[in-house]
Amino acid sequence: MDLKGKVALITGAAGAIGRAYTDELLRCGAKVAICDLDIEKGEKLVDDFSLKYGKGKTIFCQCDVTDYPQFEESFQTTISAFGGLDIVINNAGIFNDRFWELEVDVNLNGVIRGTLLAQRLMRKERHGKGGGVVVMTASTLGLMSTPCAPIHCATKHAIIGFTRSFAEAIAAFVRIVFPLALCYNAFARHQNLLIKINHRISINPIKVNK
Ligand SMILES: NC(=O)c1ccc[n+]([C@@H]2O[C@H](COP(=O)([O-])OP(=O)(O)OC[C@H]3O[C@@H](n4cnc5c(N)ncnc54)[C@H](O)[C@@H]3O)[C@@H](O)[C@H]2O)c1
Repeated sequence: MDLKGKVALITGAAGAIGRAYTDELLRCGAKVAICDLDIEKGEKLVDDFSLKYGKGKTIFCQCDVTDYPQFEESFQTTISAFGGLDIVINNAGIFNDRFWELEVDVNLNGVIRGTLLAQRLMRKERHGKGGGVVVMTASTLGLMSTPCAPIHCATKHAIIGFTRSFAEAIAAFVRIVFPLALCYNAFARHQNLLIKINHRISINPIKVNK
């Protein structure tokens, strides 16, 4: 996928991995809506990236992925600011099984909300482009068990099942939906790993169109 001129919305974009997604997308010529709960970090990122890549390439949207109306507003703001939307990265996530209901609401329900919004708002009749790419940040914990964080592990397993199933169901509107797994060490060693993996996937997409 040629990222030049594309518009991306990323949740949890003020965090470590969201920042790396943003940096790489901007480097490749895309525009990015940084969506996050953390206003201070999000606005600072916009300043930092404006210095690095020029003004007008990023916006910050205060967005709690557990709050459907606010999440929808972030989509609308992004589409108004950049004239469309091509990529949604459902990345916001927390790791704390003590607050398990919030964890499920952010990690799983947040991903489902983001995907349903993408399905609705990236349709051709909504903004003229038709389709796009939805990426989920899952985890290696979506592929294995872990006794120390069973609920976190369950949310990441669920993301993969949801993504596989949803890709088949709504492929007419979202062409590629992909679970992504990474581990911290690999990420720390290779800042751009995520996007490189994603880019490779995008060049050779799994055909899910019906
Ligand atoms: N870092 C890792 O080792 C690792 C490994 C596997 C998977 N992941 C996944 O990658 C994703 C990003 O992780 P990270 O390491 O960058 O975490 P991080 O804590 O650095 O960033 C997470 C961001 O999400 C934001 N956030 C939290 N709750 C939110 C909500 N309700 N709505 C919107 N934003 C919210 C936070 O403000 C923060 O900026 C998560 O889904 C995580 O599960 C991370």
